[in-house]
Amino acid sequence: MDNIQTLGVIGAGQMGAGICQVAASAGLEVLMLDVADEIVARGQQTIEHSLDRLLKKGQITAEEQTATLSQIKGTTTPHELHQADMIIEAVSERFDLKVQVLQRVENIAPSALLATNTSSISITKLAAKLSRPERFVGMHFMNPVPIMPLVELIAGLQTSPKTLKTTEALAKKLGKTTVRADDQPGFIVNRILMPMINEAFVALAEHLGTAKDIDAAMKLGTNQPMGPLELADFIGLDTCLAIMEVLHTGIGDPRYRPSPLLRRYVEAGWLGRKTGRGVYTHKA
Ligand SMILES: NC(=O)c1ccc[n+]([C@@H]2O[C@H](COP(=O)([O-])OP(=O)(O)OC[C@H]3O[C@@H](n4cnc5c(N)ncnc54)[C@H](O)[C@@H]3O)[C@@H](O)[C@H]2O)c1
Repeated sequence: MDNIQTLGVIGAGQMGAGICQVAASAGLEVLMLDVADEIVARGQQTIEHSLDRLLKKGQITAEEQTATLSQIKGTTTPHELHQADMIIEAVSERFDLKVQVLQRVENIAPSALLATNTSSISITKLAAKLSRPERFVGMHFMNPVPIMPLVELIAGLQTSPKTLKTTEALAKKLGKTTVRADDQPGFIVNRILMPMINEAFVALAEHLGTAKDIDAAMKLGTNQPMGPLELADFIGLDTCLAIMEVLHTGIGDPRYRPSPLLRRYVEAGWLGRKTGRGVYTHKA
């Protein structure tokens, strides 16, 4: 399958919903799968709000908004993905969960290409658990997907050149710019970004500054649009911790040790914006 027309997306969280939105805006038929009706409904709401903002800014017309929404079908029935040409997995950053979800879907849609939006987990290691590893690839979108122009493409050892080429063409169709990253923990973006965020938690724990001052220093002093702690709340502290754990175990260097404060926040359920509390408190 060279030309992807029907896309399945597993996970209707912040990344899954964003991927569904850009794919539907590009004219693809989209199937958005999650485990519960209310989560699927929340994903659809996220997309509606995002399109509302684009409409208000004059970046899309009301007709385009309606057309995009009509291209997306939410479901909790994995079997509905059997008609997809390609399926992108965007569930939580846990190896075992991703394997379970990918194995199930490769039985449901045997001819589909499979991609993972993992932020850090080895594509080669995930591919080894699949029966058609040559049809599997890493497609790492950035958050928020409708705004951020980059997609990192990661081939595992087993990924075929054709799979990579079709995935690259899909990313272009979705209006994204691609870079190719080697299959090493964290790829390019998170290998560099996540240690900075982790260090901000270390700095906070050591009272180098308040959270606000650490963020202000990095924003105003290094020209970043968000401070690292604000960004961690945006990404999700559970995702940040999971990525640091992959860097730590995968590279084996103690400098990637996750900050104990970050770990403690995750243990408290303070995951950032998605739970209303992280480093900062957020309105619903
Ligand atoms: N948050 C970011 O900034 C960011 C950026 C790039 C990539 N990613 C990656 O994208 C993936 C998803 O992250 P997110 O931030 O969207 O997380 P999230 O917590 O917002 O969403 C994860 C979704 O997966 C769903 N899910 C869990 N098990 C499932 C199953 N068996 N079947 C179907 N759905 C299931 C959950 O219900 C949830 O809705 C992770 O691998 C993460 O590392 C995240």
